[in-house]
Amino acid sequence: MTESKRIGILTSGGDCAGLNTVLRAVVHDAAGRGWTVMGIEHGTQGLMESPPRATRLDPSEFDGTIMRRGGTMLGSSNYGNPFAYPQLDGPDLDRSGEVIAGYKALGLDALIGIGGDGSIAILNKLAEKGGLNLVCIPKTIDNDVSSTEVSIGYDTAVEVATDALDMLQPTAASHDRVIILEVMGRDAGHIALVAGIAGGADVILIPEIPYRIANIVKKIRSIQASGRRFALVVVAEAVPNEAGNKIVQKYAGGRSAYGGIGHLLGDRLAETTRAEVRVTVLGHVQRGAAPDARDRLMASIFGVHAVELIAQGKFGRMVAWQNRQVVDIPIEEAVAAPALVDIDGPVVRTARQLGICLGDE
Ligand code: F6P
Repeated sequence: MTESKRIGILTSGGDCAGLNTVLRAVVHDAAGRGWTVMGIEHGTQGLMESPPRATRLDPSEFDGTIMRRGGTMLGSSNYGNPFAYPQLDGPDLDRSGEVIAGYKALGLDALIGIGGDGSIAILNKLAEKGGLNLVCIPKTIDNDVSSTEVSIGYDTAVEVATDALDMLQPTAASHDRVIILEVMGRDAGHIALVAGIAGGADVILIPEIPYRIANIVKKIRSIQASGRRFALVVVAEAVPNEAGNKIVQKYAGGRSAYGGIGHLLGDRLAETTRAEVRVTVLGHVQRGAAPDARDRLMASIFGVHAVELIAQGKFGRMVAWQNRQVVDIPIEEAVAAPALVDIDGPVVRTARQLGICLGDE
């Protein structure tokens, strides 16, 4: 008979499709082992409070609609590092001790943290400081966590961006327009590149490949010369302007996020090609969609593997997908450096062979 355990689970960082599906997998597997699962609200913020904000999760909650929904039923936050927690007035505070106290107050034997590379690095630091038994699951639409071929949420985001191109193409063709689609991707161009190929883009700009406007203009002119009067351009939000500066939107509270390169590019292309240009910024639509089948499957496989790691007492590990297998790797390895697009890899090569302009030639 296996020992009964009480485990916590939290979602941290930007939400994405498939998080509720991970919760369902963990809760079902853990319940089958006779364990209790505590769902912690709003990432580490739920543990900072006294008493911690957490509720017991029951498998019956997940048999209906929740596992199919985007977002996270636990809530999440992509700011508020507990080691430098922002205050309304005054300098940032180190609240890591409160998070560790929250874990202990809940009487947890282990914690599953679902996050991107930033959140996972913070959780690992907390685990090292407080002796927490941590297992992580990678999620991010950006797919830039190292040592795993996929992170939860990426596949759905690509699907959404591809659907957007499928919907933009007929209107671009009807009006003889150049339509630019700006997609997310903080620093990595995976969504833009893959959706651009799948969605028949003529030009794809990613932060990993420097571009020149002249090369894009040349491509659009050659399309026009061939008799086709529309073009589709995909640009990743982290692509800089021609001067090399990334374009950022500032929000209330001093926070900011990438966004705006699509419109800048649109203005430049309208000036230089005389084409009629329109811009669509896809934004958070890429995060809030219902998970596709592949994300649901990966979420389930990752959730079950995380529970098994806890059963085996293997902590400080991140679940990963490599060569069609679920594996686990040391967390340090996963957060050492972001996984950017391999500019000499098969996906970039395929784009070039399809005649897609990547801006560099
Ligand atoms: O990391 C996920 C992500 O969606 C990025 O692609 C994007 O740059 C960022 O989060 C947006 O963050 P926010 O939700 O704060 O606007």
